[in-house]
Amino acid sequence: MLPKSVKVVEVGPRDGLQNESGIVPLAAKVALVEQLADAGCSVIETGSFVSPKWVPQMADSAAVFQQIKRQTKVRYTALTPNLRGLEAAIEVQVDEVAIFGAASETFSQKNINCSIAESLERFMPVMELAQKHQLPVRGYVSCVLGCPYEGYIDPQKVAQVSQQLIAMGCYEISLGDTIGTGTPVKTQQMLEAVLENIPEGKLAVHFHDTFGQALVNILIALQQGISVVDSAVSGLGGCPYAKGASGNVATEDLIYMLDGMNIETGIDLKKLTHAGLNMMQVLGRQSNSKVALAITA
Ligand code: HMG
Ligand code: MG
Repeated sequence: MLPKSVKVVEVGPRDGLQNESGIVPLAAKVALVEQLADAGCSVIETGSFVSPKWVPQMADSAAVFQQIKRQTKVRYTALTPNLRGLEAAIEVQVDEVAIFGAASETFSQKNINCSIAESLERFMPVMELAQKHQLPVRGYVSCVLGCPYEGYIDPQKVAQVSQQLIAMGCYEISLGDTIGTGTPVKTQQMLEAVLENIPEGKLAVHFHDTFGQALVNILIALQQGISVVDSAVSGLGGCPYAKGASGNVATEDLIYMLDGMNIETGIDLKKLTHAGLNMMQVLGRQSNSKVALAITA
């Protein structure tokens, strides 16, 4: 059975902009977050408290949080890979944080400079401090349908890491197809492995659209009862430590599909498209969203 409503987690300001080759002006980031909120996005991944040496594009995340005009019904979230990141996030009053691990050993090393086991250890004190501050913690698992370094990833490994993050206290696991190589049957098999031990209400999906498979894979996830979907306005995005990974599924394309299925999201497609086009103007190129291009043609 398909869900009646879907919670869209807008990751454009973080996943979308972390991969840009040029530095995006702070004012443009602030405007994007505010316009996304105006369009009805209820969860906005606004920044990332990572090492600026690793991801220079996110170095001004604290300033973004300080400058945005917040709406009470919106959750403004951020990535926090370690205690230092969490402390910085708490200082600017983020509403929710995320830790991020992987189902691939090599990707874990390349992305956060430690093994999967070490990453889980590093997340423990982050979890403890977040709980002290009553901050919900989301857990990402990358490379759930393939790794840029190792290729095939065993669904059982995805299930195992996801379960470890849940056991640690994450309220939700976002399953990331980091390089967008997943296809529907593989997606279904991976989800079935994860769903053996984690209920669908605690799962989200996060598809990059490198091979144009994101929407069809999302449909598979919806059919499995999953009702939280990550996406980025204009199809921005990619991971600097996953070469070749292109943008996330475009939020505009996702909303068009969900509107067409009468699945509620609370997001206004026109306003959302406008927010995306404003950012594309700053970036000086065309949107990756087919829907945005079609409705503004
Ligand atoms: P490290 O080099 O092992 O750690 O990095 P370190 O503790 O030695 O720190 C290195 C330097 O960074 C030091 O500075 C620290 O002070 C500083 P130095 O002493 O050399 O001047 N530092 C920090 N600065 C600011 N904030 C912090 C912080 N921590 C350390 N929080 C570390 C380990 C995890 C920090 C690093 O590897 C890192 O920042 N990685 C982040 C990589 C990243 O952000 N990747 C993209 C996000 S994940 C993603 O996109 C996938 C996802 O979308 C899902 C999917 O698609 O699959 C979520
Ligand atoms: Mg991603």
